[in-house]
Amino acid sequence: MNVLVTGGTGTLGRHVVMLLRQSGHRARILSRQPRGHVDAVQGDLRTGAGLDRAVAGMDAIIHAATGARESLTSRATDIGGTRRLIDCAQQAGIGHLAYISIVGIDRVQGYPYYRTKLRTESVVQQGGRPWSILRATQFHDHMETFLRAFTKIPGLATVPFTWKFQPVDSNEVAQRLVDVALQPPAGMLPDFGGPEVLDFKSIAEAWLTARKEARRLVNLPLPFQFSKQWGEGLITCPDHKDGKITFAQYLKEKYTLS
Ligand SMILES: NC(=O)c1ccc[n+]([C@@H]2O[C@H](COP(=O)([O-])OP(=O)(O)OC[C@H]3O[C@@H](n4cnc5c(N)ncnc54)[C@H](OP(=O)(O)O)[C@@H]3O)[C@@H](O)[C@H]2O)c1
Repeated sequence: MNVLVTGGTGTLGRHVVMLLRQSGHRARILSRQPRGHVDAVQGDLRTGAGLDRAVAGMDAIIHAATGARESLTSRATDIGGTRRLIDCAQQAGIGHLAYISIVGIDRVQGYPYYRTKLRTESVVQQGGRPWSILRATQFHDHMETFLRAFTKIPGLATVPFTWKFQPVDSNEVAQRLVDVALQPPAGMLPDFGGPEVLDFKSIAEAWLTARKEARRLVNLPLPFQFSKQWGEGLITCPDHKDGKITFAQYLKEKYTLS
């Protein structure tokens, strides 16, 4: 199959591209800066530039782009960009749009990015192209992004102890997303989660140990509704422990082999 991968240069998308190519399919990447990437089309979801060229001749789209790194809400890239992408997909008669979303976004209030993801899901559902949506829990890599943000003060790691995550390996999510995209459109799919639900305190302890960082771990209660809801486990899916690679295994691989 010929598959356009938006976000094909990102954490998840890189794996998606590799897995598609390894299994004999064509993966074309959409990127704002395609230089250095094979089979990549320059385009921008925020403006719509290049999207018609990117979708031309494709059978399916795996939509894994997000502007989350640049904006807390990321509306223009995620909501607007998905509309623009689907308009082009409509013109080109693309048979399947597979979108990656996040577990629990409909259960959590007051987290701007989740509102954006939920609205983007609606755009996909109502866009007129056959679709599948896969919701996954947080990637192991993403736990580290969070932890870096909570360790800005020298000697300290201030983290909300009660938050619960179910970290998952991004390559395992990518494999599931590729399988989904190669099958007929399936609508809303079962959640995809990592092998264990962990509180943020133990995640932080494991991370500091792996990195041999001697920081004092301090609880940081946050007065936001989403924070309470993360503590209640609303962004986990304990009935779907699909991933095999634990956070501890991810850390071991990354920090003892590097
Ligand atoms: N991170 C997690 O833990 C997690 C968990 C569940 C679901 N998800 C979902 O998985 C998806 C991928 O997440 P990720 O962490 O892999 O993202 P990421 O590493 O931040 O990558 C973002 C990708 O989006 C592309 N992009 C950004 N703005 C763009 C624009 N204006 N036009 C075109 N492309 C643009 C970037 O490509 P260029 O810079 O090359 O243009 C990049 O490839 C997201 O939808 C996210 O919500 C993530």
